Amino acid sequence: MRADLLGFLECPHCHGALRLDGATVRCENRHAFDVARQGYVSLLTGTAPTGDSASMVAARAAFLGAGHYDPIVTAVCDAAELVLAPGPGGCVLDLGAGTGHHLSAVLDRVEHRWGIALDSSKHAARRAAHAHRRLGAVVCDVWRRLPVRTGAAALALDVFAPRNAAEMRRVLAPGGALVVVTPAPDHLAELVSEIDLLSVDERKHHRLYDQFGTPGRTVACEYRMALPHDDVEALAAMGPAAWHTTAEHRRERIRSLPDPVTVTASVTVSTYLLR
Ligand SMILES: C[S@@+](CC[C@H](N)C(=O)[O-])C[C@H]1O[C@@H](n2cnc3c(N)ncnc32)[C@H](O)[C@@H]1O
Ligand SMILES: [Zn+2]
Repeated sequence: MRADLLGFLECPHCHGALRLDGATVRCENRHAFDVARQGYVSLLTGTAPTGDSASMVAARAAFLGAGHYDPIVTAVCDAAELVLAPGPGGCVLDLGAGTGHHLSAVLDRVEHRWGIALDSSKHAARRAAHAHRRLGAVVCDVWRRLPVRTGAAALALDVFAPRNAAEMRRVLAPGGALVVVTPAPDHLAELVSEIDLLSVDERKHHRLYDQFGTPGRTVACEYRMALPHDDVEALAAMGPAAWHTTAEHRRERIRSLPDPVTVTASVTVSTYLLR
């Protein structure tokens, strides 16, 4: 955790400013949080929410590393650049950032910005902490008050992750925006009947309008992927199917598919000017 990043964060107990003291993050009211050996800091209070397991995070890293979502990453970076180029001050936040894959691509695209990956999974935070030199990883629950200072973010990203609209509005700076990626109805269509690939939350497309109104910009990103069986397995193991099916059961279903199998990727990248 770099000291420069702490200026964007706040103490989850008293909302005071944070500073780095060796391997400990402290606020002026003596609340203290250890920086983990792996480089992330947990600013979680109370009971831990569910987050992706170690094997889910490893599967996500493998799938994203194979490049199958690169067109989505590019669409996210394009949207981010349009928000950040006019120059609202502040960091880039990624809520439910997972491995930090999308956030580090955005940081590569725009120089001189700091990024903060928020996730409830320490396994995800471990990876995100090393994803980019201008990125800090924080474990927290995005359904509670975020440990982020009011108005600290120029851009908030949310890629297939939970969305806390009130907190997103609070942490955005004037001129800042939210970029959200949601699956379109035909996303991974060839596989959804075979394997349960999307969480209920990810399917709730219509909720976006209720939460944020009409987007300032919407881009549909649709293409076909040729997925070898290993990558279908990773795709299944990184999603909700991992919670209620065994790896053996998933492999059995996958064996009946062509190798490679053609699968549709179809998402919407929306930009909301919330402030
Ligand atoms: C579908 S994954 C998406 C990860 C990343 N955005 C990506 O696209 O690669 C959802 C992520 O949200 C995290 N998550 C789930 N519930 C959360 C919560 N209440 N607070 C913070 N993160 C949460 C999970 O641990 C997981 O990393
Ligand atoms: Zn405090």
